[in-house]
Formats: sequence, C-alpha cells, structure tokens
Amino acid sequence: MAYYCSFKPSLLFLLFFMATAQARDSITTHLHFFFHEQYSGPNATVITVVNSTTSNPGGFGSISVADDELREGSSVDSKLIGRAQGIAPVVSQSGQTAFLVLLDFVFTDGEYNGSSLMVVGRATLGGATERSIIGGTGKFRMARGYTINTFLSDAPAGRLIAEYDAYIVH
Ligand SMILES: *[C@@H]1O[C@H](CO)[C@@H](O)[C@H](O)[C@H]1NC(C)=O
Ligand SMILES: *[C@@H]1O[C@H](CO)[C@@H](O)[C@H](O)[C@H]1NC(C)=O
Ligand SMILES: *[C@@H]1O[C@H](CO)[C@@H](O)[C@H](O)[C@H]1NC(C)=O
Repeated sequence: MAYYCSFKPSLLFLLFFMATAQARDSITTHLHFFFHEQYSGPNATVITVVNSTTSNPGGFGSISVADDELREGSSVDSKLIGRAQGIAPVVSQSGQTAFLVLLDFVFTDGEYNGSSLMVVGRATLGGATERSIIGGTGKFRMARGYTINTFLSDAPAGRLIAEYDAYIVH
C-alpha cells in the first residue's frame, strides 16, 4: 500500500514533466563564424601533450589539448565570440592524418553568450570536414545538428583558420 501511495504522485509528476518538455517546438539556428588556432609561437592555443611520432607512423596516438578562438571573421583581430576547448587524438594508423576531435564551443558574446555546443567527429587537415553536434547548454539545450568547416589557404604563419557553418536544431 505504501508503495502504491508513493507511486501515484511520481506518475503525475512524470506526466507534468513530459508536458513541460514538449512545450516548445524545435527551431533550427544557423551560425557562421571562424575558428582560429595558433599552433606555434608564444601564444599557441594548442599543445601536444602526447607525441607518439617516433614510435608510430603518422603520429597515431598523439594527443593535443586546445583552447582555440572563435571569431566573427577570418582576420586575426576580428571580434572574439567564444572559445573551442577540448582534445584531439590522432586516430589514423595509415593514410592521411586524422583526428577524433572533441570540442566544446563556448560562446562568450552576443545572443548566445553563455551557451555552448558539443562538437564531435573525425577531422583531417584538408578540404571540408563535417562533424556532429551532439548536445548543448543554455540556449542550445538538447541541441543536435552538424558543423561544416573549410580551412583557409591564406592563413598567417603558425595559424589555422577555418570557416564554420553550424546548423543547430534545439
Ligand atoms: C602574444 O600575446 C601578447 C599578449 O596579448 C602580445 O602582447 C604579443 O604580441 C603576442 N605575441 C605574438 C608573437 O603574437
Ligand atoms: C613530435 O616529435 C617529433 C620527433 O621528435 C618532432 O619532429 C615533432 O615536431 C613533434 N611534434 C609535435 C607536435 O610536438
Ligand atoms: C557574457 O555573459 C557574462 C556572464 O553573464 C557577462 O559577464 C559578460 O559581460 C557577457 N559578455 C558580453 C560581451 O556580453
């Protein structure tokens, strides 16, 4: 009997919770911005914490930790709008070097200040790369979607710059 009494309020709470969760329809947001990574010099935004180049061809198993910049434009002094923070192990044993990139895109300015997107997937240093958005916080709670990025060929020395389009359902 005691079990039954405690079950009933829980069920009501669950139904209420489900109704609340369904209150808003999903929207799709498109964000366009630039990713800047300084990989050499005193202000590097990425460090290699494991370098397995000597024992493994192509650096398989190497791990980098990044605190990269998200900027409005491709210029190095364009407005900073967030950071891309995370890790990128080299996961290819042969062929072109490939990374499994796990980056939290944390926005620090504008409409999405304080919100973040978890971007995960394989990346190579070449043409366009597509990766998954598997979650988010703040205005991007329950996010899913994808990013497409293309590296610019005319970036300054020691710097990677990629143009990003993010399509987010949230
Ligand atoms: C590194 O950052 C500092 C502080 O922002 C700056 O004064 C310096 O010019 C930068 N150095 C390079 C090589 O970009
Ligand atoms: C890793 O080690 C190799 C061999 O010592 C070196 O040539 C390379 O520059 C290192 N890579 C990084 C990212 O530190
Ligand atoms: C972003 O949000 C933080 C925390 O609320 C606030 O301190 C900061 O001033 C905001 N930045 C901008 C550029 O609005």
